[in-house]
Amino acid sequence: MELGVSGTLLLAVLLSLVLYFFTWRRNLKKKNLPPGPPPLPLLGSLLDINTKEVHMSLMKLGETYGPVFTVYLSSTPAVVLIGYDCVKEALIDNGDVFSMRGHLEFTYLITKGYGVLITNGERWKQMRRFSLSTLRNFGMGKRSIEERIQEEARYITEEIEKIGGAPFDPTHLLTLFVSNIICFIVFGERFDYEDEKFMTILNLLKEMFLLMSSSLGMLINVFPKIISLLPGPHQKIFTNLKKLKYFVAESLENHKATLDPNCPRDLIDCFLVKMEEEKSNPITEFHFDNLFGTVLDLFFAGTETLSRTLQYGLIYLLKYPDVESKIHEEMDRVIGQNQCPSVEDRVQMPYTDAVIHEIQRFADIAPLGLPHKTGQDTTFRGYNIPKDTTVVTILASVLKDPKYFKNPKQFDPTNFLNDNGSFRKNESFTPFSLGKRSCVGESLARMELFLFFTTILQKFNLKSALAPEDIEITPEPNTNGVMPRTYEMYVTPR
Ligand code: HEM
Ligand SMILES: *[C@@H]1O[C@H](CO)[C@@H](O)[C@H](O)[C@H]1NC(C)=O
Ligand SMILES: *[C@@H]1O[C@H](CO)[C@@H](O)[C@H](O)[C@H]1NC(C)=O
Repeated sequence: MELGVSGTLLLAVLLSLVLYFFTWRRNLKKKNLPPGPPPLPLLGSLLDINTKEVHMSLMKLGETYGPVFTVYLSSTPAVVLIGYDCVKEALIDNGDVFSMRGHLEFTYLITKGYGVLITNGERWKQMRRFSLSTLRNFGMGKRSIEERIQEEARYITEEIEKIGGAPFDPTHLLTLFVSNIICFIVFGERFDYEDEKFMTILNLLKEMFLLMSSSLGMLINVFPKIISLLPGPHQKIFTNLKKLKYFVAESLENHKATLDPNCPRDLIDCFLVKMEEEKSNPITEFHFDNLFGTVLDLFFAGTETLSRTLQYGLIYLLKYPDVESKIHEEMDRVIGQNQCPSVEDRVQMPYTDAVIHEIQRFADIAPLGLPHKTGQDTTFRGYNIPKDTTVVTILASVLKDPKYFKNPKQFDPTNFLNDNGSFRKNESFTPFSLGKRSCVGESLARMELFLFFTTILQKFNLKSALAPEDIEITPEPNTNGVMPRTYEMYVTPR
């Protein structure tokens, strides 16, 4: 058979591809990166990873390649860390090297390199310090935010009372609860649950969040340039963003008009004070873009995470009624029926505290954590990892590490209880990750979880139309482990 010119060309192209492929792989070996599945040109490890169950695929690869291994996003390596010992060795023992934020293309599209979540260097340092201190003033430790959460939890119980004994899906109420707390911190006001502006903001955010955790979102992280140019549902991100920006800008103007620098009311006021302080600094980080970026970060990082944890918490309690009745019993003993639950009660409620820890451990709502990257060339467990390599800490493998929890795949509050019933910490409890880059909202989140569950359980017995053994508590399949299944519940007054 005659090959012809095009045939010869094709053959040449194929041959050089094959050659290129083998040299590439040999070069990879020389670099002494951690081991991993052999990558394909262009596709990298894409065929080894199910984009709808990424953490499961990675944990499976860990069984073959060990707790430190390399996968390829197209031709770019990413190092994956599995289990508490390994993740802690990176984020704590080598925190200086491993605390840079890795590239999050999708989030980059949204916050454009501003804010706290995806930034590095001086900008990150300033915005992180600002967020932490603002959350502390309005939230952490101080009474006011606690009162605000208590009040919001009471509004939620009122809403549930309005529903009467009819079955309902709690998702929407939980979103209202957690979003209103962030609104209070950022804008200094809570919204009525029917407020039109509030509904608009929530919908805009929700659409963006859904896109982010879809496989389209995962693909955008791998092939950002191509996919962001294509038409498709993800183009909505940009139109939604514009609307949100308008909303924040408008609120900023209102704040400016009524600011009392000695008595900041919320995050925007605090930001305005900083802007004023640094107005003669030409390279100040306190400008509108960083304000907008930080506000978006708090909404992104602080609403879905919490509302999903609450969603899971409620379904676990429906599944395990004996756990609920033990909380009831402890609560009646410590708080009683009339007093409003407060964070101070927590130390006297080890069982409830243990259940909330177990809810977070088991719900595992950020199974991949957020990507980090190395700030310099480094060796880790005998392997070389070059500067700027993406590092993925599989928090799922830490929260369910069999070395630290006796039945990691079972919901079991005794993971956090001593034999005598006192609360027991466990270092492998890391839903907020570890080290310099760990969750900024941890204290706020823990306060909300405690006050939400105690306020609801003080008033109600939780019921499900399904028998406990028929309730499915695992996440919705093919959602990267982040979406709880939808369910209905109803309540009876206590
Ligand atoms: C149950 C609730 C929450 C969970 C499980 C959670 C979990 C996490 C995780 C795993 C990270 C990544 C840490 C890392 O890179 O190693 C993170 C970062 C972050 N979280 Fe949370 N979070 C929660 C609630 C919140 C809340 C309520 C807020 C804000 C009000 C918040 C704000 C942030 C911010 C700003 C970051 C980025 C920190 C940085 O890059 O320096 N989170 N969170
Ligand atoms: C309960 O047991 C733990 C260790 O198992 C111990 O540290 C603690 O003091 C004990 N608490 C009480 C009240 O006995
Ligand atoms: C966590 O649990 C493991 C296994 O039960 C135990 O060895 C470890 O000491 C616990 N950590 C803490 C801080 O109690």
